[in-house]
Amino acid sequence: MQEQIKNINNLDELQALYTATFGKNGTMTVRLKEMKNLDNDARAALNRENQTLRELFKVRQTEIENAVLMAGLEKQKLDVSLNPMPENRGTLHPLTQSLTEIASILESFGYTMHTGPEIEDDWHNFTALNTPAHHPARDMQDTFFLPNGNVLRTQTSAIQIRAMESDGVPIKMFGIGSTYRKEMDATHSPMFHQIEGLYIDKNITMSDLIADIRAFLSRFFGIDNVELRIRPSYFPFTDPSIEVDLKWRGSKWLEIMGAGMVHPNVLRNCGIDPNVYQGFAFGFGWDRLAMLKYNLPDIRQFYDSDVRWLKNSGF
Ligand code: PHE
Repeated sequence: MQEQIKNINNLDELQALYTATFGKNGTMTVRLKEMKNLDNDARAALNRENQTLRELFKVRQTEIENAVLMAGLEKQKLDVSLNPMPENRGTLHPLTQSLTEIASILESFGYTMHTGPEIEDDWHNFTALNTPAHHPARDMQDTFFLPNGNVLRTQTSAIQIRAMESDGVPIKMFGIGSTYRKEMDATHSPMFHQIEGLYIDKNITMSDLIADIRAFLSRFFGIDNVELRIRPSYFPFTDPSIEVDLKWRGSKWLEIMGAGMVHPNVLRNCGIDPNVYQGFAFGFGWDRLAMLKYNLPDIRQFYDSDVRWLKNSGF
């Protein structure tokens, strides 16, 4: 009997044998009914046999059920050689990607990131930056004016004023954000982005400025030692002021950023004594830097929200 149970391979047969054994007129049922005629030893032996058989049926049932389940799973096997569904992955916008790189470089130099409002008051965008009303330098930037006299921020320099007002000196920060000017062609968009560094402490000099610019551009463009050309320039909020050109791919000079030593009037406007503290500021077009690095010809593509462009540009 025990061998018979072990050799059964399907549930129907097992059920049939179970009924034949334990059913109403099953062999074991009949024997159990006759138990009263047996002596004590024979009764005990019958009880054990009864127990053992029931156990065996249970174990065999589980074994057969598991085998059926495994056979089913075997048939459902995943075919890993099938072509995958086309993947539609999102990517980070090139401006976001470049910000991550720019921020990590500047932060490694000890600059901390700041932002500010895009609708700015006259004080932070112009006056505090040594550009009072009627100053001719206001015409350098075609400003969007709001009816209440506020402006759409024309330069991230406004952020350095806010940072100096709130944090005081010494300070080493960079501001990032959107800026607005009335201009539009392949290299100009009415909304663009700037990044601007500021470092004020005791004994900061022009060579500190040039060293940081050189180290920053080398790291960002992955060039061992960038070739720079420093030209005198004019900004109302720096004196002396310079413009920095970068030798691009061994041939062309590209104008890449404006910079200079922060004008004493700017420091005074922020409650800082220029006889004790001095320092530098530099500012550049964030979009322009990204265009150069990723070889993108037209600034307007940054703002078109065209996913095909993002894909084809390899982002
Ligand atoms: N704010 C200047 C611009 O928009 C750039 C600049 C920043 C120049 C800081 C000098 C120092 O053209």
